[in-house]
Amino acid sequence: MSFFEYKNGILHAENISLTKIADAVGTPCYVYSRAAFETQWQSLDSAFGDYPHTICYAVKSNSNIAVLNILAKLGSGFDVVSEGELRRVLLAGGDPAKVVFSGVAKSWSELEFAISQGVNSINVESISELERVQEVAQSLGKIASIAIRVNPDVDPETHPYISTGMDEAKFGVPMGAAFDAYIKANAMPNIEVHGIACHIGSQITKTSPFSDSLEIVLQMVKRLADNQIYIKQLDLGGGLGIDYQGETPPTAKEYVDAMLDGTKAHGIDLPIAIEPGRYISGNSGLLLTKVEYLKRNDRKAFAIVDAGMNDLLRPSLYQAHHAIWPVTKNTAIESEVFDVVGPVCESADVLGYDRELTIQAGDLISVMSAGAYGFVMSANYNSRLKPAEVIVDGDQVHVVRQREQFEDLVKGEQIIEEE
Ligand code: LLP
Repeated sequence: MSFFEYKNGILHAENISLTKIADAVGTPCYVYSRAAFETQWQSLDSAFGDYPHTICYAVKSNSNIAVLNILAKLGSGFDVVSEGELRRVLLAGGDPAKVVFSGVAKSWSELEFAISQGVNSINVESISELERVQEVAQSLGKIASIAIRVNPDVDPETHPYISTGMDEAKFGVPMGAAFDAYIKANAMPNIEVHGIACHIGSQITKTSPFSDSLEIVLQMVKRLADNQIYIKQLDLGGGLGIDYQGETPPTAKEYVDAMLDGTKAHGIDLPIAIEPGRYISGNSGLLLTKVEYLKRNDRKAFAIVDAGMNDLLRPSLYQAHHAIWPVTKNTAIESEVFDVVGPVCESADVLGYDRELTIQAGDLISVMSAGAYGFVMSANYNSRLKPAEVIVDGDQVHVVRQREQFEDLVKGEQIIEEE
């Protein structure tokens, strides 16, 4: 089901036309659908049935506090990778006891904060980190609940920049060293071995990489149990892909069933946590932008729009494809093939190559599937102001982040005072 559809030839988010949003808020602007977020989250939740589970939404995919609040109200947990993300979760009413903390470079102060908040699990990515967690917990007089994030060396068959579970990646502890890491952790006075974690990559469109890595994780769980180390939670990471341009990723049910089949085959019924980001947020948002100019040279036609690579980096960084739709269907003019480009002074500032569109200067267009890794990866390059973010809820529009102002851009900067 899509919550972004044409009604009377005009693209809507739920019951609100995007023209209305552009009039009220301006462009460029990220537009999200509350119902889309909720539907995606619930599809995963219900796929587990009464099997014990926690859905730890990957905050990095879209960290607006209104989004986090909507998910917290559904009972979501969260996967965070920095103190900033953890603070966002707390601000949005999330429960720290349902937070897993991933990331290869957790600093002393980040660990202090997370351990004092009592997060569900610190997902430890190296032996040196494990030693630091012990020291921090000891200095606080607390016990830190941990998982070792293992690297199962499974190919997720996705873009190399978003593969994390192969042996050349910086992520996780290799399987060969993981057992020893657990033995070591188990002997540490301020560490409680809680779980085992793994995340192999993102935008995965088959179940087999998930099943393969689960199998490796379960072998480790058994080996640990044989050595009196009892894992209490399987954290199977995120990575479930979405449809950007006709991909057919597993449904929530197929994805969850693949995991439950895997655990059942081993007679293991441990609680499962997952860390989905894109599956929940990706198709829950779009980037609304206006055509400033049409420009033609001998070889190409360009639609120059007011959003650029600083607003949505994915096409430039990963050659990612995002569908581009006109907001108003125009039948009075001919279609033409355009490169849709932004205002940034870089040739890579392209939102989409060779798109057939029926548009003219001044029209609004929508870059679809931009709810995940969109606003969160935006930057101020070329001193451009970050766009506004809006959530549509039925026939209500909520601005959940104001468009930046010039004052925001220079906040904290200072001219040197001459003596
Ligand atoms: N858990 C961990 C430990 C992760 O590193 C990630 C994503 C996730 C969960 C969520 O993965 P998801 O369910 O969203 O696939 N910027 C890239 C994606 C980077 C993903 C990084 N890690 C993009 O725009 O495609």
